[in-house]
Amino acid sequence: MAGKKIVAANWKMNPSTVEEAKRIAERVRRSVSELKHTEVVVCPPFIFASAIISRSVSPHFHLGAQSVSYGEGNAHTGEVSAEMLKNAGVEYVIAGHSEMRAAGDTDLMVSKRIKAILDAGMIPLVCIGEKLRDLSGTHFDFIKEQMKNSLAGIPKSRSRDIILAYEPVWAIGAKAAMLPEEIYEMSLFVKKVYADIFGVDTGRKVQVLYGGSVTVRNAADIVRMGQVDGLLVGRESLNIAGFVELLKEVDGV
Ligand code: PGA
Repeated sequence: MAGKKIVAANWKMNPSTVEEAKRIAERVRRSVSELKHTEVVVCPPFIFASAIISRSVSPHFHLGAQSVSYGEGNAHTGEVSAEMLKNAGVEYVIAGHSEMRAAGDTDLMVSKRIKAILDAGMIPLVCIGEKLRDLSGTHFDFIKEQMKNSLAGIPKSRSRDIILAYEPVWAIGAKAAMLPEEIYEMSLFVKKVYADIFGVDTGRKVQVLYGGSVTVRNAADIVRMGQVDGLLVGRESLNIAGFVELLKEVDGV
């Protein structure tokens, strides 16, 4: 998938019925067949994964998950293992989303989830992002620490199998996204930190997505001017008409 843009749809805790989940996924699946430069990853709640993947496999359409257990053994009530996800057809898994971090996920837990995802042969979409920013630039230090700690213990040999999603927390579920020129600055910074951790060559190649209030209106500008490798889309991914149009726009960049 190198060189292609990636648009991941984070459905969060939506929709409420399997029929609706199938309907949205089907519309997205139909539209992606026309894409040339974009791969789409749909991340539904666990309970809908099988219903969505059981339809015929289509090019450019991938199944993702929003989290995974990092525990060893099977005594983990309420959890879903990486092996189960892999066997259900999941290819990508989000780790470190700010909503999971707010609910208690630490950097250590994120690193364990990343390891579990990689060990099962899936691709982690690793979310990073500062909660706040001020003029003194402390967000740079925050991101650096968060990346170092969340990626701690990941061997260099696996560093090419990871995709990063820069999501400033203050822009998630907000009225407006970060400005494309600021996104450009942050994507360069994130690549530099990745290079410091895993080496220059890996830092140059790592794919960085942007997430936080992406809509059909700002998506193409964010990809073009922000020079990111794709997007992680929350609310707009459930607005079918908007999302289908967003995919076309991004594909045309
Ligand atoms: P949003 O969510 O697009 O609704 O801001 C993004 C995310 O949480 O990944």
